[in-house]
Amino acid sequence: MPDIFDQPVQRENTCSVKFDARKTVFGREDVIPLWVADMDFPAPEAVTRALEERARHPVYGYTLFPESLYQAVIEWFEHRHGWTIERDWLLMAPGVVPSLHAAALAFAGEGEGVIIQPPVYPPFFSSIRKTGRAVIENPLELAGGRYQMNLEHLEACAARDDARVLLLCSPHNPVGRVWSESELREVLAIARRHKLLVLSDEIHCDLTYPDKPAHHVLARLAGEEDALVTAVAPSKTFNMPGLGLSALVVRDEEHRRALKEVFETMHMNQCNPFSIAAFEAGYRHGESWLGQLMVYLQGNRDYVIDTIRQQLPAIKVTEPEGTYLLWLDCRALEIDDSELKKFFVHQAGIGMNPGITFGEPGSGFMRMNIGCPRSVLETALEQLRRALDK
Ligand SMILES: Cc1ncc(COP(=O)(O)O)c(C=O)c1O
Repeated sequence: MPDIFDQPVQRENTCSVKFDARKTVFGREDVIPLWVADMDFPAPEAVTRALEERARHPVYGYTLFPESLYQAVIEWFEHRHGWTIERDWLLMAPGVVPSLHAAALAFAGEGEGVIIQPPVYPPFFSSIRKTGRAVIENPLELAGGRYQMNLEHLEACAARDDARVLLLCSPHNPVGRVWSESELREVLAIARRHKLLVLSDEIHCDLTYPDKPAHHVLARLAGEEDALVTAVAPSKTFNMPGLGLSALVVRDEEHRRALKEVFETMHMNQCNPFSIAAFEAGYRHGESWLGQLMVYLQGNRDYVIDTIRQQLPAIKVTEPEGTYLLWLDCRALEIDDSELKKFFVHQAGIGMNPGITFGEPGSGFMRMNIGCPRSVLETALEQLRRALDK
């Protein structure tokens, strides 16, 4: 029986950033789109059914967050991650990126420092810069084909007088690391020693591979004394990030109040009825779909890595432990970042995210999104092979 994830879905002309912004971003609308972190798969049927059902009621007025939504989050994290969240700790938010901005505003003063670990998802930089805070970089280290945190340097960053917050990406976009329990315990210890608040962005926490270690929710390892805010969302898990809704889990009442105030000053506490319906349906009914998805993505991951290792020796790839993102080391091509982007677009006909957009340590890399039917990856790798052969 063909896999449901093998079926192509036409996404052109749906106002999709990944498909319909290609001309603007790459200068060509025919590149194979392997950028933007959404997948080309239909969301679970239960999500679509919930949206249809909501649409059948023809009044789309101002909406509140129903109690059942909070319960859906609580039950999902208890069941999938063994994490007990209390109802009072939950704060709904319009997205994880707005939450990064809110955390910078709430927990660091103007000009004060926020630590990030590049290469990292670009809004980690912009949320700090655009709110007038200072970026403190603790670059990840690549050792033996695997990225690690430089904990010694992290301690030095945390010890700076101006350091207030650490933005942790867990699992880490773009390098695909699922941080180990011991790494996370070290992070907590450093933060505790230097009175840092940790904002742990765990939006990718459900996207771990069946053959790799499980994700550890940082809050499960933390104690009451740790200053910690966790950002979660079903948007990546069930492929519905366009609907824009997320949750913050904040144990400390003062921290909760500080975040709430920031959202309120921007009038960002409203949400639309469709996000609510989809969010709850995903967490309540999406688990078996997620299981099938991860098996399919594991097949994609193995296919791409095997093909690159066998046929494209100029490119090195680190095996991700989570996320549908692959991080391609193209430094052996010995071309600069602007030429690298041009090579992928104009020689190979592929649109990927240039590694340099994830910070200086991403120079010479490209980020590839494998959340698409395998046939798309086969065509892309064949085009890349031909371009490299030239
Ligand atoms: C680490 C990380 N955080 C946040 C987001 C986006 O979150 P949202 O769409 O809820 O703002 C992404 C999307 O790629 C991501 O990779």
